[in-house]
Amino acid sequence: MASASERKPWDSSNLRKYCLNFEEIPRLPFDDPRVDELISSNPVIIEGSNLVKSATDKWNLEYIERHMGVTTNTVYLSRNHKFKYFDDKKIQSRTNPRGVEFSPPMRKVEMKVEEFMKKLREWKRGDERLYMQQSLTAAVGPNIVQDFVGFNWKWINAKQKTHCWGKLTSNLLYVSMEGNVTPCHYDEQENFFAQVYGYKRCILFSPDQFQCMYPYPVHHPHDRQSMVDLERPDHTRFPRFKDAKGVEAVIGPGDVLYIPIYWWHHIESLMRLGPTITINFWYKAGPTTIEYPLKDHQKVSIMRNIEKMLLEVLQDPREVGPLLRNMVLGRFDENPLA
Ligand code: FUM
Ligand code: FE
Repeated sequence: MASASERKPWDSSNLRKYCLNFEEIPRLPFDDPRVDELISSNPVIIEGSNLVKSATDKWNLEYIERHMGVTTNTVYLSRNHKFKYFDDKKIQSRTNPRGVEFSPPMRKVEMKVEEFMKKLREWKRGDERLYMQQSLTAAVGPNIVQDFVGFNWKWINAKQKTHCWGKLTSNLLYVSMEGNVTPCHYDEQENFFAQVYGYKRCILFSPDQFQCMYPYPVHHPHDRQSMVDLERPDHTRFPRFKDAKGVEAVIGPGDVLYIPIYWWHHIESLMRLGPTITINFWYKAGPTTIEYPLKDHQKVSIMRNIEKMLLEVLQDPREVGPLLRNMVLGRFDENPLA
């Protein structure tokens, strides 16, 4: 059978334009031994795993509407095509003691699946865009539970074991309008990203690109997000972004993209190609093995911890940057001691 890439119904007109060029993420059959070699530290697209075959065989918007169940689902609404995640607990918290202004770039609402689908059907240019991002729980209807049980758990459990990952924490179901974008960010979990319906372009950057990506501070509601807008990078504020080295791929039904922990990812549902459906499988990192030199993602984790610690003792996020600058200026920056 032709792979998703060979059947491709898209061309460059379905892709957004960026100022960077990207290399291709390798694409391998599920039984190729190089899959496991790559998974230890790199992204890979895995074909033919049948991980979510019970879903790719049937799921589309009508099926989801009929079978999702009666409870409400989390839906984000955005005035533009970008759905930049924010942590609402960080808006008015102890880490934001003076209530620094933050205006959320999108709204989070709960709605029943019928209401979501009706809004999609009636959507017209100028309306808020919609993106459902709902955790798959026991509350979904019996058909979806049955499809879920029919996922290829044997295959994915074996991957979890081979790579010593921790437990599966959640499965998020994404139902997106065409053209929606999840801007560049990293997650603190291992991710098998399984495409069920439609096509998504995924652009990834390794944790070793940290200094080109300009993450928000850890206390900020946009923690783990890049401050750079990939579509219109501000090269004056973020000069190193032009040197960022990324990899990309378009994934279609049946493809599983492995997104390694702490890898930056920017995801777009292709333009003018209809809605998309994805399910991700998030796993906790395995037990930490300390081998030197440390891996880049371990260094990102160390930086996060230092930032959190400083915030804890200084009690004011505005003091963290000046203290760090004071610490390195003339000693650890361009003028290191011999
Ligand atoms: O839009 C998306 O599919 C995002 C996925 C992710 O951030 O893992
Ligand atoms: Fe993510």
